[in-house]
Amino acid sequence: MSCISNLKQSDQSWLETKDPLVAVGMFENGELTSLGQEIDRSLNGVISKAIDLGDLNGKAEKYRTFYQDDRQILVMGLGKGEDFDSEALRRAGGSIAKAALGKKIDSIAVECICPNSDSKDCQALAEGLVLGSYRFNDYRTGEQEGPNLERATILGGDEASLKKGAVIAQAVCFARDLGNHPGNVATPTRLAEEARRIGEVGEMEVKVFDREEIVEMGMGALAAVAQGSEEPPKFITLEYNGGNEDQDPIALVGKGLTFDSGGISIKPSAKMDEMKFDMCGSAVVLGVMQAVAELKPNLNVIGVIPSTENLLGARACKPGDILKAYNGKTIEVLNTDAEGRLILADALSYVTQKRKLSYALDFATLTGAVLVALGHHATGIMGNNEDLIKKVKDSSSETGEKVWEFPLWKEYCEEVESKVADVKNLGNERNAGTIAGGAFLKEFVENETPWVHFDIAGTAWGEKEKPYGPKSGATGNMIRLVLDLLEI
Ligand code: BES
Ligand code: ZN
Ligand code: ZN
Repeated sequence: MSCISNLKQSDQSWLETKDPLVAVGMFENGELTSLGQEIDRSLNGVISKAIDLGDLNGKAEKYRTFYQDDRQILVMGLGKGEDFDSEALRRAGGSIAKAALGKKIDSIAVECICPNSDSKDCQALAEGLVLGSYRFNDYRTGEQEGPNLERATILGGDEASLKKGAVIAQAVCFARDLGNHPGNVATPTRLAEEARRIGEVGEMEVKVFDREEIVEMGMGALAAVAQGSEEPPKFITLEYNGGNEDQDPIALVGKGLTFDSGGISIKPSAKMDEMKFDMCGSAVVLGVMQAVAELKPNLNVIGVIPSTENLLGARACKPGDILKAYNGKTIEVLNTDAEGRLILADALSYVTQKRKLSYALDFATLTGAVLVALGHHATGIMGNNEDLIKKVKDSSSETGEKVWEFPLWKEYCEEVESKVADVKNLGNERNAGTIAGGAFLKEFVENETPWVHFDIAGTAWGEKEKPYGPKSGATGNMIRLVLDLLEI
């Protein structure tokens, strides 16, 4: 992977920096940002001349380049001044990074274009720059598209907030990478290795349970999904204790299904390759834990990842099989492709039964139905606690990662009742499939733990390109939202 790995703040003048490109901004009303004005003066008004001639309009994401000796001066459109909020800054940062990538430049200087050097704004600008510079080119052995964008010097701004934005965005890029790696690389074993690495950086306690231990612990649902695969499954926990002892921890649970063939209820082959992304829920958890490891907040957080492939073979779990989850509830498997909820059943009941939690969140590419309902634009959420859902929605507005709530009314919950076991892993054929997933998971949230389920099947990959988003592939969506929710 590649993204800006070195982002630093500087109080130097633009003339003292040596980067081959300097980025400044301009609003739609024709006003240049302050460094833009300074550079315009030193270039004898060539930028304002271009504005007068209508060659530059300041519309967001549109830019023009000017030249000072062998340096490029990039004037990025910032849109309307009155709409210039954190999200606009994030977009501007992403647009600048993408323009630099297109120009095959590896190091840029960027004016801190934040209106008041406000900490949230500086954080957003840095996030945009790093996120926009992301490229996944690990498997191309031939000619590269050009050099990677490695370094950014921000001229002005609040150093701590810029650094924080960079750390957060680098964690998102790391999660994008995990999603983009193919199923033969991003295996459960690899997820466990990444968890151990993060654990070392953040002084966390990391535990990895193997197939035998999964069975021994009574995780009959995860064990059943893993039965059809020879790739060793893992049940991974990471525990970060940066808060007081009496502070109840927050649990983050992520679906780590490293390839979903559907199992015996096999999927059609078209687009089956996309099911390498079925571990993006676990990438959200690892991305958040990576940022936690670096930023060391005063919090207690537990990451939980049930991880396996869903394949088919002589030993694979079959439709009609009845399984027993960690909390003792029995599950009738009516479709082996509804496996995400099975592995999450064990993970959710494990962490909510064993620990007194402040709240639990789970992230999963759980249903194709969420795409039918919301497309790639929003994550479907549902839960058992209005206050927590409200907080999630508030964080969503802060970070620009859209969520939409579905109801978990009693009528829906009754749809996962089974005739032969406690629950079945399907709702009513074809109807309200996303809610059925949530209704099923609700059965495995113990001790009245406040809980929200995030169905990220539409947002974890394949969204329309945003200025700070990837052209294609995994997005790392929801990591920034969770970090905002955790007040990190
Ligand atoms: N991983 C899939 C969900 C998915 C499908 C994500 C398409 C993104 C795109 C999940 O395991 C699954 O197969 N769910 C089934 C559930 C159904 C059998 C109730 C689905 O959505 O079809
Ligand atoms: Zn499936
Ligand atoms: Zn799946």
